[in-house]
Amino acid sequence: MNKYWYKNAIIYSLDVETFRDSNGDGTGDFKGLKNALPYLSSLGVTCLWLLPIFETPNRDNGYDVKDYYKIDPRLGDLGHFAQLIDAAQEEGIRVIIDLAVNHTSTEHFWFQESRKSKDSKYRDYYIWVDEKPKDAEKNMMAEDGEDSSSWKYDRTAKAYYFHSFYAHQPDLNISNPQVQEEIFRIMHFWLKLGVSGFRIDAAPHMFKERGRMDFDGDPHQIFRNFREFVETQKPDAILLAEVDLDPNQYNKFLGNEDQMHMLFNFYVNNFMYLAFAREEATPLARALQRMPEEITEKEQLATFLRNHDELNLDKLSRNEREEVFKAFAPEENMRIFGRGIRRRLASILGNDRRKMELAHSLLFTLPGTPVLRYGEEIGMGEDLSMEGRSSVRTVMQWANDKNGGFSTAPQDKLIRNVISGGDYGYEKVNVSDQLRDPDSFLTWISKAIDYRKEFPEYGWGRNQIIDTGNPHVLGHFTKSAKGMGVAFHNFSGKEITVELEMKEEDLKDLVDVFGNIRYEKFDPEKPKVRLTPYGYRWMHKKHNFL
Ligand code: NOJ
Repeated sequence: MNKYWYKNAIIYSLDVETFRDSNGDGTGDFKGLKNALPYLSSLGVTCLWLLPIFETPNRDNGYDVKDYYKIDPRLGDLGHFAQLIDAAQEEGIRVIIDLAVNHTSTEHFWFQESRKSKDSKYRDYYIWVDEKPKDAEKNMMAEDGEDSSSWKYDRTAKAYYFHSFYAHQPDLNISNPQVQEEIFRIMHFWLKLGVSGFRIDAAPHMFKERGRMDFDGDPHQIFRNFREFVETQKPDAILLAEVDLDPNQYNKFLGNEDQMHMLFNFYVNNFMYLAFAREEATPLARALQRMPEEITEKEQLATFLRNHDELNLDKLSRNEREEVFKAFAPEENMRIFGRGIRRRLASILGNDRRKMELAHSLLFTLPGTPVLRYGEEIGMGEDLSMEGRSSVRTVMQWANDKNGGFSTAPQDKLIRNVISGGDYGYEKVNVSDQLRDPDSFLTWISKAIDYRKEFPEYGWGRNQIIDTGNPHVLGHFTKSAKGMGVAFHNFSGKEITVELEMKEEDLKDLVDVFGNIRYEKFDPEKPKVRLTPYGYRWMHKKHNFL
């Protein structure tokens, strides 16, 4: 058993309902996903992250859970889920599932009971107060002008409950040991069904002090208990947390190899976009320098370009965010919540193949495990006519066929729009055509994934920035016991040659392995690195002593 599989996994995130429909009802399902596994395996994916699959009123894309033990019936049933897990295993693909336990839906049985009476055993599953406290911060999901309080009055309970997110998502009181017990049981159940771990939604919110000052001791003990529980049940299962905080908080959530195995690197993500907007490497280099000193053998960061939400730019200063907005979301309709962009990566980068390769080359070489999002591998765009974050949640484009090959249902029965027409429509952007085209982005991305797998050093060891002497060029390397991976990225539209001032021993035996073109052979004696506009080069060396 490879306990550290996640250090070098290729994670692919998708929402079952928008991926592939097998029965023609307009909604993607487990069977459809199962049929698509050979495609994912040939792409090089080794782990699927499924967005919430539980029974839900679906007012927040499934992050509003009604019953953690039931599958959303639109996707199939538990039997279909078991079949999916088996089929994925046969393809060498693990499955992790999204677990949102910071909150439930108001429709959850616990909440229904909780609101009924102060004496209910479920009352303390949620956070109730009689008087509405004054909120210091605006609610995360409030648009300007909306009621921005995180406390909502409930007439049945005659009290206010706390919600970090939408009002229909009351926060669970995680400090309550009974709630913790419930979470263990839920994890137990899904681990037994064969998942390889959980994406922990909204992890830092679980500890917010507001309204529940009654944590008995260090709240992080709860995550230590989660980790211990998960590892006891299944030693190779992982916890991958959404910790959307400053990097100085990362260690608090990784703990002493005893809390989360992995954290999404939101910070580097934000500064990557600032770097793209400025066509300068410096913001990203600085962000990388703020990463924890040491990511141990058992821990990992998850690198991503675009997740399933808005591209939340709240790690940037107001001015920096404005710069990114100006470059990538010039119209108001492209923005959301005052902090994010509701566009996909390909359109943000103007469908410029050079920039898309540059961005993905970073994804595969920056310290951490890469997480791809469905449709990214073919360069899907967004549908701004759809409300809120749905713009980036359109159905997968499989072929230049009815509904982009997603479903045989009549178009008006589709769970979400399919993008048709224009540069990003399924007629031009689809899996089937790109699979047959040796020069397509899809072909390029599977090649890049092959290289990433061949040189796993990028996922291990300590990352260091190379002083390239040029603000447009990022140079970085990662050394592990097995070897060293080096990469250079030119953020600008100009050809640049940099001269390296690296230790002789580091330069020795360094060879080019991958790049946007076939560059002239790298000569460690005259260490110059030429990069075409938006060009990138990966270099490598094996340690002699191994
Ligand atoms: C974070 C998820 O990524 C987002 O989609 C969701 O709305 C909130 N958590 C609430 O669950």
